[in-house]
Amino acid sequence: MEQCLLAKYRDFLPTTPQTPIITIGEGDTPLVRSQRLEREIGCGELYFKLEGCNPTGSFKDRGMVVAVAKAIEAQNSAIICASTGNTSASAAAYGAVCGLTTFVIVPRGNIALGKLAQALIYDARILAIDANFDKALELVRVLAQKHPIALVNSLNPHRIEGQKTAAFEIVDALGDAPDYLFIPVGNAGNITAYWKGFVHYKQVGRAASTPKMMGFEAEGSAAIVRDKVIPDPKTVASAIRIGNPASWRGAVAARDESGGEIDCVNDEEILDAYRLLAAKEGVFGEPASAASLAGLIKLAKSGYDFSARKVVCVITGTGLKDPDTAIQSAKPLTELPADLETLEKVIVQG
Ligand code: F0G
Repeated sequence: MEQCLLAKYRDFLPTTPQTPIITIGEGDTPLVRSQRLEREIGCGELYFKLEGCNPTGSFKDRGMVVAVAKAIEAQNSAIICASTGNTSASAAAYGAVCGLTTFVIVPRGNIALGKLAQALIYDARILAIDANFDKALELVRVLAQKHPIALVNSLNPHRIEGQKTAAFEIVDALGDAPDYLFIPVGNAGNITAYWKGFVHYKQVGRAASTPKMMGFEAEGSAAIVRDKVIPDPKTVASAIRIGNPASWRGAVAARDESGGEIDCVNDEEILDAYRLLAAKEGVFGEPASAASLAGLIKLAKSGYDFSARKVVCVITGTGLKDPDTAIQSAKPLTELPADLETLEKVIVQG
């Protein structure tokens, strides 16, 4: 059996002999070479890091396993987070396996159905409030200060430590860092974590280079791009509907130190990339995940030359979490009577 994330990367993580080694199978996700879009976009090599293959269907599990292990080590019996959905699903799963009480605060009516279903079935205490993610995070910070409950949002540095293991895996798979890493940006923890991972691996000699970090916010929530807090963030990509990213500074540092960019893509670009990824590559990511590919397509169209470059797009979560957006974005299904002749007609005529 493959070693679990906490054991495998022990030397790079804040574990001690007292840290419980827990796992539900996180990490070690596929890095898949593009079959069709690589040529169409004009990249030397294009890869997708499929973080939807984590046990709760998103990259959050990498950070959550570390945050929850450290919370248990610190003798917490409860954890809390604010979430646009994926963090809550992940916290609820690790809370469940570790027998902790898990509180998740989510924007009411504004998280994808699959994510809500996850938190419910993992038996978390879900507090749905009439506020956006930024307000929920503000409240959670206060609650975690006032009560003996561990905060497991990416403000918790252990989350960032765990999430940097995705960068390690990319370098291990490619033999070095790629030239470019495209990644969606919401609360900005993940871009911060990847950069930390790439830098760390270079420092210890496991990589010769670091990639340019290319972060993409949604246009209606592009606080970092506009350099101002967005009080009422909007986007179809509910996972990154965030107007005041907690790791703002980390994202800016990743951009500046790597020589990369933080830019934004609009909902149309996100949904186009979302459909392309599924229809041309067989990869069903959630809408927010497609912001990475949408960003790559946007830059390629604007004249960037990736033809001699190795590019990785992080696909942060599985599309199964958000069936509503998939059904609304795809062609409608064809409903027919159960009749051979009618079916043949459709098949033959196309
Ligand atoms: N992609 C997905 C699928 C996400 O769920 C998130 C964040 C991001 C990208 C952005 O990552 O916040 O580290 O910049 N989801 C958080 C949540 C906010 O609550 O699940 P980030």
